[in-house]
Amino acid sequence: MISATLNRKVTSMPTVTNILDDFPILHQEVHGHPLVYLDSTASSQKPVQVLEAMDHYYRTTHANVHRGIHTLSEAATTAYEDARRRVARFINAPSTKQVIFTRNTTESLNLVAYSWGRANLAPGDEVLITEMEHHSNIVPWQLICEITGATLRYVPITPQGELDYDALGQLLNERTKVFAFTAMSNVLGTINPVAELVAQAHAVGAIAVVDGAQSVPHLSTDVQALDADFLAFSSHKMLGPTGIGVLYGKKEILQAMPPFLGGGDMIREVKMSGSRWNDLPYKFEAGTPAIADAIGLGAAVDYLTQLGLDWISEYEHQIMTYAWEQLQQIEGLRILGPGPERRGGLLSFVLGDIHPHDVAAVLDMQGIAVRAGHHCAQPIHDHYHISATTRASFYIYNTTDEVDLLVTALNKAKSIFSF
Ligand code: ALA
Repeated sequence: MISATLNRKVTSMPTVTNILDDFPILHQEVHGHPLVYLDSTASSQKPVQVLEAMDHYYRTTHANVHRGIHTLSEAATTAYEDARRRVARFINAPSTKQVIFTRNTTESLNLVAYSWGRANLAPGDEVLITEMEHHSNIVPWQLICEITGATLRYVPITPQGELDYDALGQLLNERTKVFAFTAMSNVLGTINPVAELVAQAHAVGAIAVVDGAQSVPHLSTDVQALDADFLAFSSHKMLGPTGIGVLYGKKEILQAMPPFLGGGDMIREVKMSGSRWNDLPYKFEAGTPAIADAIGLGAAVDYLTQLGLDWISEYEHQIMTYAWEQLQQIEGLRILGPGPERRGGLLSFVLGDIHPHDVAAVLDMQGIAVRAGHHCAQPIHDHYHISATTRASFYIYNTTDEVDLLVTALNKAKSIFSF
């Protein structure tokens, strides 16, 4: 149960929680300092409820799913399918048939690019993505464009780190077959207007593919309201385990697509002369799935639902806004991307000419975990003519006290590097 109070200072708590007690990993020291984990955009930590759900499954229920007649196999199948139901409800998918378990967002996006792309793209067609994409929403499209002869185009970003909407209006045209974009940038923090972008894609007859890796863990998501044709996201960024992700898709599009991977579970019948495919969602789930991980994801979804996505996004907004204000005070520090009102709970920045790896190393010595590098989004960094940034990202277990520690450590980095 989530109960009691958060035992570190926060700006204001819309709900009373005991979140930190649920995350044993956060109660440790790193280099003699209490761990301050500011790297949830790379991967979030897991509450005991998720760990216990997976442990319980392995101790009591494990067998292969969809295959056995025996009791354990049926129990494992029920638990696995129940996790799918929770995920479907979480994003308001009309049917569990539209929730495909993959390994992660990257695999979900590759699935769409290969299966849908091979069947639907040809020379003369255009694929539109944006300059603020993660590599996982760039490279699969580059690969499929090479295979099919379609042309890849990019919506540029403005100096403020927003999509250039004038350019978008010109780039979306009757040749555009797919517009794939992130709901929230993992570097700039920019929150894109997903429903509007989907509508713009549909207006020219293109399908809309949404990378929800950074949005689904933090913002309430309703795929029917968004009208997205596809939505991809990962369990490990939303309190669940690694090794499992989700692809939501519109039923008629999924039904018309050829399979991605071949093997067990995705077939109805195999003859030496050829094969026929299983129904959705199994057509896209070849091989023994990540059963325990799906169950862990189901528990994570329960945890997030219990807190409430509206509370989560409001809480993160408060922490991020506080951090944004404090970091702005540090001379020589430059934050990339829009102001707090248009961004999610992360801040990527440069600190003078100190290399971001050096900044992260100094922070680590103070027990503060951040990510440094290009964050799998080199085109964004190219846009700003820098090779790397340092990124602090916030989730439900972070506090303003931790932001204060970050500021102190950044000032220490400045003094160490005499800047
Ligand atoms: N996509 C993850 C990040 O931004 C790994 O760090």
